[in-house]
Amino acid sequence: MDKITIYDKDFGIFISHDEILAAVLKIAEKINNELAGKDVIALGILNGAFMFASDLVREFKINCRVSFLKVVSYQGDVSSGNVNRLIGLNEDIHGKTVLVIEDIVDSGLTMDTVLGHLQRFKPEGIKVAALLLKPEKYNYPSKVDYVGFEIPNDFVIGYGLDYNGYGRNLKDIYRVINH
Ligand code: IMP
Ligand code: MG
Repeated sequence: MDKITIYDKDFGIFISHDEILAAVLKIAEKINNELAGKDVIALGILNGAFMFASDLVREFKINCRVSFLKVVSYQGDVSSGNVNRLIGLNEDIHGKTVLVIEDIVDSGLTMDTVLGHLQRFKPEGIKVAALLLKPEKYNYPSKVDYVGFEIPNDFVIGYGLDYNGYGRNLKDIYRVINH
């Protein structure tokens, strides 16, 4: 499948499943070296990171637990507008090494929100792994420690990433074709 259409958009193949798995393996090797000996809690961000997280943690040789979080947006009061909060954090992360696993970091707002919430629980340290990073729009000081691919500012789907809920199940990553 080289081309697919979802609603009004056409997508062409961008990163193949084999290329993704090679990048995942490289990230896992780095993490296995750098986090060896730590008590790690890997936290995948739902929904988008479910596929990346599952392939990544499968390659871990470190001592780790695996869990998932969701960022939900709700209507705050008039002054605060929309507020993001985290749901699903059941583990005690105090004094632990947290590895946040995200599908894509775009402006960085979502990651910044997640890190702000997690820091309040005083983990020993927080590392961030993102399969994709769009550096053109990235606008926050907190760095991404492990990146699979830096990509241009195009809309992508597949391997967990969606367009209005569709496309998450695709094993390759596709990019929107401008027309
Ligand atoms: P940020 O908060 O601007 O960094 O955006 C991050 C979130 O926006 C990700 O967790 C994705 O859910 C979504 N997102 C950003 N870019 C894309 C894309 O190209 N395809 C699908 N979702 C995206
Ligand atoms: Mg996401």
